[in-house]
Amino acid sequence: LALIAGTGFDQFGALENQKHHDVSTAWGEPSDVIIESQIGNKNVFFLQRHGSKFQYPPNKINYRANIAALHNVGASSIIATAAVGGIDVKTGKIVIPDQIIDYTYGRENTFYDDGDEVRYIDFTEPYHEGLRKKLIAAARSARLTIETSGTYGATQGPRLETAAEIKRLKKDGCTIVGMTGMPEACLARELSIPYATIALVVNPAAGLGTSKILISDIENTLEKNSPLFFEIFSRACEQIT
Ligand code: HPA
Repeated sequence: LALIAGTGFDQFGALENQKHHDVSTAWGEPSDVIIESQIGNKNVFFLQRHGSKFQYPPNKINYRANIAALHNVGASSIIATAAVGGIDVKTGKIVIPDQIIDYTYGRENTFYDDGDEVRYIDFTEPYHEGLRKKLIAAARSARLTIETSGTYGATQGPRLETAAEIKRLKKDGCTIVGMTGMPEACLARELSIPYATIALVVNPAAGLGTSKILISDIENTLEKNSPLFFEIFSRACEQIT
């Protein structure tokens, strides 16, 4: 099991018996070393999506190298954390999304573009339902009330959206908005790695709150609620064989 840790996940200090894997891939370097650790009796891998110094903005992350590196060390499932804006969900709430709309552009989004062979993958259900169910059960066992479905609108970033863009996303059916959900999810699917996301709403999306989006508000919400990522992940570890 692997965790791609997004913004706000800062429990690395709590990981025991850390082994660091410096992996390089045919698609370049992942964002950081992969940390191997144990939760209960399970071996788990952690990768910081934005790098150890938070140096990669969402549009500059080497998603292919990240997924390939986790594949190379033997990750059999990937859980990703995400700090997101809320369109139809209140700040502070956890969402386990079941759908994605991709608004990103110019990102390397396939392993199969080297001219050898065109490959199409089914992506009707972008998240792995079995893994989603385990996350939902894990959140329930922690007595959290969560949204058990939702549509993740993946925007390009690193700027936040305009109010009109969020109106459009809402009309499209997006309930949350973030910048890193794609192409991460489809790359995992290309390698047949079950993938699911724990999203934490850290702000009302643009135009839906009472004022401009304040980064300090986002940071406060993250600081208060981000331990939930690790709580849900570690409980999910117990259920994953
Ligand atoms: N939009 C996009 N990505 C985000 C947001 C947002 O409002 N909040 C956190 N990540």
